[in-house]
Amino acid sequence: MKTVLSGIRPTGNLHIGNYYGALINFLKMQEENKCYFFIADWHSLTTHPDPALLHVNVGNVLSEYLACGLDPEKATLYIQSDVPEIAELYLLLNMHAYLGELEKTVSFKEKARQNPNNVNAGLLTYPVLMATDILIHNADYVPVGKDQEQHLEMTRNYALRFNHKYGVEYFKQPAAYNFGQELIKIPGLDGSGKMGKSEGNCIYLVDEPKVIEKKVKKALTDNGPAGLNAPKPECIENLFTIMRVVSSPETWQHYNDLWNRAEIRYGDFKKQLAEDIIRVTTPIRERINDIKGNDAYLRKVTREGAEKARESAGKTLREVREIMGFKAF
Ligand code: TRP
Repeated sequence: MKTVLSGIRPTGNLHIGNYYGALINFLKMQEENKCYFFIADWHSLTTHPDPALLHVNVGNVLSEYLACGLDPEKATLYIQSDVPEIAELYLLLNMHAYLGELEKTVSFKEKARQNPNNVNAGLLTYPVLMATDILIHNADYVPVGKDQEQHLEMTRNYALRFNHKYGVEYFKQPAAYNFGQELIKIPGLDGSGKMGKSEGNCIYLVDEPKVIEKKVKKALTDNGPAGLNAPKPECIENLFTIMRVVSSPETWQHYNDLWNRAEIRYGDFKKQLAEDIIRVTTPIRERINDIKGNDAYLRKVTREGAEKARESAGKTLREVREIMGFKAF
């Protein structure tokens, strides 16, 4: 059985791109692996979130994860800041992370350029904290997007460096979890690129039906097919991509035939698309809203998650302390 770990920063609501791109795969992973799914609230501190908002966002992601079917009985679901062992291992690993390599990290350079007035030490050592998250449970696999690949590479370096420095074979080399064919990228509604919070082209899992209808209605389209069997422009291809995951194969085929016969009417097409998105998201939205208000349940889930996470993290930390020479008299 392999150990899989995934972290998410609590910065907003999950959208259908997150659902099809990651969560559906997590549901399968939790059946077959030892999974750690956690909310990286310490990581989100680099941008100094408002404390009240931070708490709301943590509650949102947690409720959304649970509503999508992540099962606290099968996986370890926890909040990073509930596991103080992570902070201590982070301190220890920081001693082996060098300024030069941290300054060269792509994500650091980008953030520093975007916010020159907030280049804090936490931002610089963000990859060390992420490496700690991964190494503290000795994860075999980490599902990461392109933007996180360099951080995973650095994690492997820190693991190797630690092993080498202390002459041990302690940390494993975590690998990117490859969804292969199964990875579905959901495009945005604005005609190009993928669905993303900062692009403002999302349909959120908590969006009410009326909101979804409005967003789909406003999605970018062109003037219609140029002739029989015309190639689809990107904005239309994107809507068909979403339809492929939310609608039945027959529905997709129907509208694809209409496109090929140059008889498609975007109004009908979008109405169908919105209806099918609403059909998929409605039960999830209802569960999210139930769970979000249920503090007793969230408290129980986070307490039990923290307990399990701390057990695994504590074991690693004890062993690392020993290796580094922190021993009891
Ligand atoms: N840096 C990741 C992101 O922004 C979140 C994250 C933190 C993470 N710690 C992690 C992801 C450990 C995977 C493993 O998306």
